[in-house]
Amino acid sequence: MQQSRAVFSAIAEPALGRPAEPHCLPSNFKGRHLKVHCATRKSPRHIRRVVDTALDLSCQLPAGKHSAFLQKNLIDHFSSTNKQLAAFAPSQPHTGCISTAIIHSDLSYFARLRTFSVKLAAPRRLLGALNSRLYPSPTKHSRTFIPAFVTVAPSRPTSRLNLFSGHLDSKPFLELNTPFSTERSAHFEDDQGNIIKEQIPPEPEKVIEKEKQVPKKMSSQPPHPALLIPGPIEFDDAVLQSMSHYSESHVGQPFVNTFGDVLSNLRKLFQTTDPTSQPFVISGSGTLGWDQVAANLAEPDEEVLILHTGYFADSFADCFETYGVKATQLKAPIGDRPQLDEVEKALKEKKYKIVTVTHVDTSTGVLSEIQALSELVHRVSPDTLVVVDGVCSVGGEEIKFDEWKLDVVLTATQKAIGCPAGLSVLMASGRAIEVFKTRKTRPTSYFGSWKNWLPSKLNAPQFPSTLTSAPVMQNYEAKKASYFATPSPQLIHALDTALKQILSRPLEQRFADHKAASQKIKKAVADLGLKQLAAKPENQANTMTAIYLPEGTTPPDVIPSLLKKGVVFAGGLHKEIASKYIRLGHMGVSVTDPNRDDLTKAISALKESLVEIGKA
Ligand SMILES: Cc1ncc(COP(=O)(O)O)c(C=O)c1O
Repeated sequence: MQQSRAVFSAIAEPALGRPAEPHCLPSNFKGRHLKVHCATRKSPRHIRRVVDTALDLSCQLPAGKHSAFLQKNLIDHFSSTNKQLAAFAPSQPHTGCISTAIIHSDLSYFARLRTFSVKLAAPRRLLGALNSRLYPSPTKHSRTFIPAFVTVAPSRPTSRLNLFSGHLDSKPFLELNTPFSTERSAHFEDDQGNIIKEQIPPEPEKVIEKEKQVPKKMSSQPPHPALLIPGPIEFDDAVLQSMSHYSESHVGQPFVNTFGDVLSNLRKLFQTTDPTSQPFVISGSGTLGWDQVAANLAEPDEEVLILHTGYFADSFADCFETYGVKATQLKAPIGDRPQLDEVEKALKEKKYKIVTVTHVDTSTGVLSEIQALSELVHRVSPDTLVVVDGVCSVGGEEIKFDEWKLDVVLTATQKAIGCPAGLSVLMASGRAIEVFKTRKTRPTSYFGSWKNWLPSKLNAPQFPSTLTSAPVMQNYEAKKASYFATPSPQLIHALDTALKQILSRPLEQRFADHKAASQKIKKAVADLGLKQLAAKPENQANTMTAIYLPEGTTPPDVIPSLLKKGVVFAGGLHKEIASKYIRLGHMGVSVTDPNRDDLTKAISALKESLVEIGKA
């Protein structure tokens, strides 16, 4: 990395800040990366020509792993740029700055990918092509406005470069320490830019044999132990790669389009078609979902009932109390869940504004029965809102938001949705939104107040503010730019990819896969003579398993040994029994990707670890 930076400045600096022509590059320059920097202030028509030329050039991308995606991305991007330019043209004489920035970022984005450099490996040739299309003849006029082309990050310093960069010997570059390093070996070219084919010596027999034995690579990520805690989980390559999206404006149309797709795809994941349901995606973690519920749907001194199946119910209760709400917990013995008749009794004894239930309690692996519970609440206490903590379930356990008449399902991205942590995802029913609108007091959260994320007609007297709130989530869903607080474009891109992957197959299939994987794990655990916290099959989650260790064994006796065998398990979390059990997550790609053997590996590692400590 250090080396390529040094080469960058050696080449780029002389060219920066003044017009450059192709021959400004050293004649024997063999760079492979090209960044086009079009520092010109020209008419929109001229800029459109630059855009079109770049688009043309993008079509030269070779067929390959990324090229279809890249071409589409570039075409989308430039066609929307063209539209913007057309709209700008009459009134904005200096739109050049806008579009040149886009060209700059797009091409440098491509330059980071090998497909671009392979076909367009000869920078001088590309410059020539671009220049000759933009400036067919070197007239006085074209010279005045000729753009500056700057070449960056050549992959192999040439002998001429070595004259002034003695430290840049032609030794291989170090791999970047990221999962998706882009510094790879480049093609060599002759002076005309033709690729010189390398003379590859025939590989010795024994090397070939050795390669044959190398196990199939599951992903392009660096080797690492399989993360099988109940979230964050292992992520798909494409999801991670989405996060390396170049920086873009959070109110620019391309990003707004992506955010809009995310919100409408969440409706599909939650199985809601009711137009009054409202998805929210706000930077934060699952905990922010609790805050949203407690701050927006309950008011100080109101009563809520929390069905307790483990650690996360305690925390949700604590969150309500932070907002002055009275939380009553209905507890079940560890590994069990409150029974429906007990819930009915509690609902008849007192009026509760909200009932909360943890769909899968991540501390115990206990699954709650959401559909039957919601039916019960609607029958016995029809005004009570049904709120589901789906942090460890959404994406792995079935949820039918409309059909089951749920009011809120809150979740986070890092578990069964399979996207890195950092987004609070929540679906609210029209009924919940109405409850919010008719509250008597102002929410005592600022960032989490729905007043700031919902339509301005919510500016009722009980929500005094000097600011007018915008319907941020609704605008994004309608693909209109909006702002209350800056979202994370990179995370939204990752979530977009994760949701598109999930929805590319029938949801029932996804839930069935999680169930099948869970059954397999649970059977293997039983075969090892181990018990689960959730003893009854109907209480057992499909996204994770909480496993009691043999008598006298604690998590530190096995977890380090499991890690050595390439799998990461989590220790216990329920405060009363934390030292007696371990937890294994089985969600997302570890379940759905047939090329991964994470779960098989987890089971054999567990078996071996128990043998090692003489407990199997
Ligand atoms: C069931 C449940 N609810 C809420 C949370 C809190 O989510 P986060 O840690 O993303 O804030 C978690 C976290 O693991 C969880 O498992």
